[in-house]
Amino acid sequence: MPRLMINGQTREVEVDPDTPLLWVLRDSLGLTGTKYGCGIAQCGACTVHIDGVATRSCSVPVSAAEGTQITTIEGLPANGGLHPVQRAWIAHDVPQCGYCQSGMIMAVAALLKDKPQPTDAEIDAAVTNICRCGTYARIRAAIHTAAQA
Ligand code: FES
Ligand code: FES
Repeated sequence: MPRLMINGQTREVEVDPDTPLLWVLRDSLGLTGTKYGCGIAQCGACTVHIDGVATRSCSVPVSAAEGTQITTIEGLPANGGLHPVQRAWIAHDVPQCGYCQSGMIMAVAALLKDKPQPTDAEIDAAVTNICRCGTYARIRAAIHTAAQA
């Protein structure tokens, strides 16, 4: 029975060890903020942090996530307040349909942890998530706002 550390809590799940982490998060644990888009590590909708690294959870077997610290969008806010990236997203009114946005926010939060003042080139290299609504310009502006926070 895989045992996971998610958002600071230990969770045990009864699934096959090959089950993708995304399915465990959504179907076993009800953490539905993490979205399913493509299932083949291309779109980024399923991005979570594994040991602080932005990771596409559709392509990680749950067995590979044992012994790591997993953070989902539900665990991103700290000390009861919103994460600076979330605040910047609100200030710039970034989302349209919203489907891609939790994955975007997780990718951006990991980027800013590594590079607090990213250039546009560094943003392009690190945030390769797909937004079908085309919110890319507002995402870039919000990243620069979050970098000033
Ligand atoms: S659902 Fe995981 S990258 Fe698209
Ligand atoms: S806001 Fe709709 S897919 Fe990004």
